[in-house]
Amino acid sequence: MWWTGEMSVTEHPPAQPALRLYRDTGAKPSMGLHPNGVNHLALSTTDMKTQLTFFAEVLGCPTRALYWMHGVPNTYHGFVELADDSYIAFVQAPGNPTEPIWGVTHSGNAGDPVTAGTMQHLALNVDSIDDVLTMRDRIRSHGIQVLGPLDHGMIQSIYFAGPEGLSLEVCTGRDIDERQWIDPDVQRLCGISTDELQALTTPAGFERPDEPVAQPAYDESLPQMHYPAPVRTHLMGMPDADVWKNLSESTPPVALD
Ligand SMILES: [Fe+2]
Repeated sequence: MWWTGEMSVTEHPPAQPALRLYRDTGAKPSMGLHPNGVNHLALSTTDMKTQLTFFAEVLGCPTRALYWMHGVPNTYHGFVELADDSYIAFVQAPGNPTEPIWGVTHSGNAGDPVTAGTMQHLALNVDSIDDVLTMRDRIRSHGIQVLGPLDHGMIQSIYFAGPEGLSLEVCTGRDIDERQWIDPDVQRLCGISTDELQALTTPAGFERPDEPVAQPAYDESLPQMHYPAPVRTHLMGMPDADVWKNLSESTPPVALD
């Protein structure tokens, strides 16, 4: 296990130029750069085969990877493809709890409560209402009950369940106009002022600096990845170059000729 067993004996390699180590061209993207999609949403499973089978048979999503999860002992990672840059990535660890606690770990449907910070439901995209209807029929042809479609104005949706309590949706829609879809009543309930809303709808840009920004000091008032404190201190204190060099596992499990 890379983040515990080797902790006290990690040998840091000599400093290397960051540009070479990161295959970094030094290019400066647009100041409007922001994440442009979900590359993979990782969902916990206790039955990898059932999840991969559901996504392949019921939804038509091909399995693209199934391998030992890097740096995590005894844990599988399985990727099903939504698009060529978008996947659902199941994680099967030996200690994963098996029973949902409705309203705590799982919502069970697209409207019920669940613990803050966990997934309420997962909406998968298709390109048209005909595609939504085709998915409705495909899902029902496997005996799975589907609610919908229904029209939310900005998107049209169907709702159904997946294995292990997944709450799923398939929908179509794009280019949401915030002038129509930000309700002043809800804005007020959220405590968002007019100026704050302006900042939310037009976020500040960011120019890539000439030199990398140093790791900030630990601040308990800010979000932190959850690790035992000594592990977190060790990991967050590692130079980026050491993380890249020592923790990367880039070789696929199967070599092609
Ligand atoms: Fe939704």
